[in-house]
Amino acid sequence: MSDLAGQRILLGVSAGIAAYKAADLVRRLQDAGAEVQVVMTEGAGHFVGATTFQALSGRPVRSSLWDEAAEAAMSHIELARWASRVLVAPASADLIARLAHGFANDLLTTLCLATDAPIAIAPAMNRLMWANAAMQANIETLRARGVAVFGPAEGDQACGEVGAGRMLEPLELVACLSESGKTGRLAGRRLLVSAGPTYEDLDPVRFLGNRSSGKMGFALAAEAAAMGADVTLVAGPVGLATPVGVRRIDVRRALEMREAILAALPGQDGYIGTAAVADYMPAETAKQKMKKSGEVLTLELRRTPDILAEVARHAQRPRCVVGFAAETQQLAEYARGKLRDKGLDLIAANDVARAGIGFESDDNALSVFSADASHELGPGRKSLVARQLLELVADFLESKA
Ligand code: C5P
Repeated sequence: MSDLAGQRILLGVSAGIAAYKAADLVRRLQDAGAEVQVVMTEGAGHFVGATTFQALSGRPVRSSLWDEAAEAAMSHIELARWASRVLVAPASADLIARLAHGFANDLLTTLCLATDAPIAIAPAMNRLMWANAAMQANIETLRARGVAVFGPAEGDQACGEVGAGRMLEPLELVACLSESGKTGRLAGRRLLVSAGPTYEDLDPVRFLGNRSSGKMGFALAAEAAAMGADVTLVAGPVGLATPVGVRRIDVRRALEMREAILAALPGQDGYIGTAAVADYMPAETAKQKMKKSGEVLTLELRRTPDILAEVARHAQRPRCVVGFAAETQQLAEYARGKLRDKGLDLIAANDVARAGIGFESDDNALSVFSADASHELGPGRKSLVARQLLELVADFLESKA
């Protein structure tokens, strides 16, 4: 049975072109077994008519605080109590700002203030509006108050631009809502995961990279979200789909990865560094394509910053810092050395010389070391090994509570 079966969902629809998708969302929520009451802002009516929602939901749509007949049938306070979950989709920039500042100047914002049901929002707006510092500050405020933020996704926008700001698709929203209602072992924890390789550009067409597929980090992000964590995934160049409910930041070079990770660090409970960060980058990236000349080409390389070690000694260090170590020999000895030298809580070592596991494979096996214990995980699917590693992270966080 779906986690949404029997839930009473108050679906807030605010003014954005993505409001047309909210009609399909009503159906999808009903398919999952939920009852849906639609509340529209005044502006939403410019995009979709109330009749559409009314026909789909089988309930009169509410939109005004001053509708006497509707208030007599069910007052806004009763409606706020009726809801077991609130989902605002699409959540426009204006609606998000009003929620962040506690406005109660229309029915939807009043209901959001008056309910004790969990609130989730699905932002939808132009990419520059989404990236605006005021918007991001509002989102942080809402997140800090426990509002779940689903998406937005990257892609083509109705305004003709391409970038982050698209509302998640109805089925993705149903999955996010269902996941966020679960009370897993990592519920209430924030985890930051790095994944994939980094590409260090030599010139506009060439780079130094490595064989990391990103699959282990993506499996960890997906499983952590399924265990209830609020997950941020910083991904190097990989061709993998973003796991449901996970916030993803794409980067290319080690320096960009460092910047993204340090920016996301405040408030995290855990950092898991699965990324195969390049150890060296070209001392300079040529502006033009390099021409071949002599028989031998010597490249000057510089060390990249060790992101993991920096996170582990950062003033805003998460309570649990986990490193990965890909080794071809003396696994335990090298891994324990890294645990100590980088100041980690756990290190997950894999033997990349073993066939069928590790880098490009769907399977993995890990030896995990802490200061005073060791555990063998797998071999098995990366999702299974990820789940086992996250149980160790959950144990660690609980032991430090
Ligand atoms: O020292 P080594 O590269 O083997 O350590 C691997 C671990 O360190 C991984 O968790 C990787 O994400 C992290 N690392 C890093 N920054 C680097 C190099 C490695 O965060 N520049």
